[in-house]
Amino acid sequence: MILLHSFAAAAVQGSGSPETRPNFSWKPILHYATSKVTPQQNIDEIRISFDVLRSLSPCNFLVFGLGHDSLMWASFNPRGTTLFLEEDPRWVQTVLKDAPGLSASTVNYRTKLSDADNLLSHYRTEPDCSPTQSFIRGNSKCRLALNMLQDEVYDKEWDIIMIDAPRGYFPDAPGRMSAIYSAAVMARNRKSPGVTHVYLHDVDRKVEKMYAETFLCKKHLVKAVGRLWHFEIPPATNMNSEFC
Ligand SMILES: C[S@@+](CC[C@H](N)C(=O)[O-])C[C@H]1O[C@@H](n2cnc3c(N)ncnc32)[C@H](O)[C@@H]1O
Repeated sequence: MILLHSFAAAAVQGSGSPETRPNFSWKPILHYATSKVTPQQNIDEIRISFDVLRSLSPCNFLVFGLGHDSLMWASFNPRGTTLFLEEDPRWVQTVLKDAPGLSASTVNYRTKLSDADNLLSHYRTEPDCSPTQSFIRGNSKCRLALNMLQDEVYDKEWDIIMIDAPRGYFPDAPGRMSAIYSAAVMARNRKSPGVTHVYLHDVDRKVEKMYAETFLCKKHLVKAVGRLWHFEIPPATNMNSEFC
């Protein structure tokens, strides 16, 4: 209900009635007002990306993971591009059945959570993982690079990246290592003015924390609320041999 209040507040702010604004939709409000399932992020966590989305939208918003929050994220970015990357093709079908307007594509991750420590050693020894190289598309040697995404992901500059997937709570799950690494590379490669906002959820877990500190950098951490960290990552001015 508190979340619904945020939607409604966003809808009625500004001049004119909400319906007259381009791309305004009551659908998400109706959906969340009648749904018994709520998103996993809490209101305080959601609010920190909501505030940035409201100031940057329409913008390019990349979201790792489809879930009960997807319609909400897309509705916070009317007229912008919001693209969801999801590991589970069946879950894509399930979510799109109820929300066919969302843009989503499936990602075949090539990592396992149980390899998280080895992958950090691999990063330190594989030249193509180095920030001096800093590429993802076609990077087959660096196992942390998401090299299997659709071209749109590489061709766009993402203003906001939300990492709330893939699953990272059992050994055979893909873990968020490559999502975190790839988000850092995308942010460092930004050519447009401004920073890239990167949000990472579940930072109470060891792997998320370790990878965030290695690739997203404590010096870029601007907010920590609940289990969510917010980074503002500037474009890399010199391609150092370390991310942080
Ligand atoms: C931590 S969840 C993200 C959930 C999302 N932030 C939300 O609030 O619903 C990450 C992944 O779990 C899986 N997942 C989430 N909810 C699911 C469900 N009800 N059934 C099957 N898989 C689910 C999806 O693969 C998703 O990408």
